[in-house]
Amino acid sequence: AQAKVFITRRLPAGLEQLQQVASVEVWTERKPPPYDVLLEKVKAIDGLLCLLSDRIDEQLIVAGNLKVISQMAVGYDNIDVAAATKRRIPVGHTPGVLTDATADFTWALLMAAARRVVEADRFTRAGLWQSWEPDLLLGPNITGATLGIVGFGRIGQAVARRARGFDMRILYTSTYQWEPELEKSLGVEFAPLEKLLQESDFVTLHTPGTDDTYHLFSDRQFDLMKSEAILINTARGTVVDSDSLYRALASGKIAAAAVDVTESEPIPHDSPLLTLDNLIITPHIGSASRQTRLKMAKMAIANLMAGLRGHSLPYCVNPEIYQ
Ligand code: GLV
Ligand code: GLV
Repeated sequence: AQAKVFITRRLPAGLEQLQQVASVEVWTERKPPPYDVLLEKVKAIDGLLCLLSDRIDEQLIVAGNLKVISQMAVGYDNIDVAAATKRRIPVGHTPGVLTDATADFTWALLMAAARRVVEADRFTRAGLWQSWEPDLLLGPNITGATLGIVGFGRIGQAVARRARGFDMRILYTSTYQWEPELEKSLGVEFAPLEKLLQESDFVTLHTPGTDDTYHLFSDRQFDLMKSEAILINTARGTVVDSDSLYRALASGKIAAAAVDVTESEPIPHDSPLLTLDNLIITPHIGSASRQTRLKMAKMAIANLMAGLRGHSLPYCVNPEIYQ
């Protein structure tokens, strides 16, 4: 019989190709399928193509007989990979293709927060622009400032490459320190987190969302930062304790923040964070360039099709299942 596949959202590409080898059902609503629906679906399918907004936990994984789980995202903290590995189910993701788009967006947020672009737009629309003023909407210099990059994988490195164009001093912290020649070629210095926080004018997060990075930023880390510092988060909302972030911004412990990710997504409408003028919040759109989303969809479909055929996934999170 033909393989059966469930896709948890409309994709920008790849469907026709998939339909030649599988019977495909697509969830067409704008909100993710409720967990119960997913739990029912999973019992009757061979392949699941999911998004980071779908919770793929152990209960769901053992409920079915999946041959493959293919996620259209690089991060996969929503998936219980250990449970999948135990059942020898390959999990696919989409690394590499979204590195530049996400690094670009990190810079969009950094610059918008530093130079108060969103506030300035609100100001203008509110009819408050009266004249050119020497002290209107001032922010810090970007050029020549110190940038602290927390998490130095593909995306962190791409952010560093862009920072060189702004003549920045670039500090990074990571689970491993690079060879000195590599550091030199990229113009970066390793710093333990504490030093990075004390010395950086901008701190940008590029870690995955794991148990190790959960609330990596809470009161203590904000205490260490400069009062003029700006925090950027395009990684995962769970890396920052939202209550601490609120306190740090409301009390002026740090100057501003710009986040593309929040602890729960979407952010609750009554979150106190939404009341802050020195915070920019965007709805998890770091990888949202048309070209990138197309590539991500194609890659997720390629992973899915490989899994259905019993081949190794081109981009597999748990390749140890093949050993
Ligand atoms: C987006 O956050 C991703 O992990 O691709
Ligand atoms: C993301 O995939 C990264 O490696 O930074």
